[in-house]
Amino acid sequence: MWSQTYFFYDLKHSSAESHPNPQTSGYNMFRHDIVNALLDLTNDRRYLEIGVNRGETFHNIRASHKVAVDPKFLFDVSEAISANPEAEYHETTSDDYFENVAASTDTFDVVFLDGLHTFEQTLRDFNNAQFLLSNDGIILVDDVLPSGFQSAIRDIPKWQKVRAALNIQDKSWMGDVYKLVFYIASYVPAFSFATIANNHGQTVLWRQQRAHDPLNDTLMEPLVRMNYDDLILHKSTMRRMPLNSIIDEIATYRKGKQVSTTEIDLNGT
Ligand SMILES: C[S@@+](CC[C@H](N)C(=O)[O-])C[C@H]1O[C@@H](n2cnc3c(N)ncnc32)[C@H](O)[C@@H]1O
Repeated sequence: MWSQTYFFYDLKHSSAESHPNPQTSGYNMFRHDIVNALLDLTNDRRYLEIGVNRGETFHNIRASHKVAVDPKFLFDVSEAISANPEAEYHETTSDDYFENVAASTDTFDVVFLDGLHTFEQTLRDFNNAQFLLSNDGIILVDDVLPSGFQSAIRDIPKWQKVRAALNIQDKSWMGDVYKLVFYIASYVPAFSFATIANNHGQTVLWRQQRAHDPLNDTLMEPLVRMNYDDLILHKSTMRRMPLNSIIDEIATYRKGKQVSTTEIDLNGT
């Protein structure tokens, strides 16, 4: 059976790192600014990153406890351990981490999924991450908007050959992670989501039941067979909005939840 649980690649991030802007309203923010802004919505600031590479994001996260998972860290792990006593480093695949390393009692407030960029692997990472997510936890999925048709090719050797054949300079490989957003829109109503419009494309997910809208459903078979052109034609499913608006939406929902819980408590006394 075809399987691809790990493919090593040394990747410099494309757009986001080259246009730093620490404002949540700016364009092309650093990934770590986005994660830090999401952690600000949580009480305990416990952070898990799947797919860490050079640690460009991980080592700039302000967390009370943080866990890095990657089959091949591209930095000196011993040095990183002594410099970051609040961090754990697991040089392994996400599947192995969730199955054999994480304790069932481990809990995270923000989980950043940025490992192997295929639909199946990211779906498995998303499913596994839910078991370790705090009630008010947030999952951030990277690279849901491929920068071009070649970036959406899920097979890495094929993506490299196409780039070479067409002399495409863009080095970003985003695979078919975008299908996860369509899957969640159709089949995971327990999570609300929105996709950051002012960067390269990351989807933010939080626990909030959504009304099921059959008009937005994608059947499973066409979903799995989606291509880049289908994504472009159905981009509205991604709910793209500026990070500020996403943060407001989460904060408003939580405030409403607090108010109704207080009302229930008051009624009970
Ligand atoms: C885009 S890079 C991550 C970048 C990093 N999150 C950052 O913001 O700087 C993707 C990483 O996923 C790792 N990776 C590939 N397959 C994986 C797997 N099965 N489990 C976890 N990580 C994986 C690769 O080794 C690579 O370092």
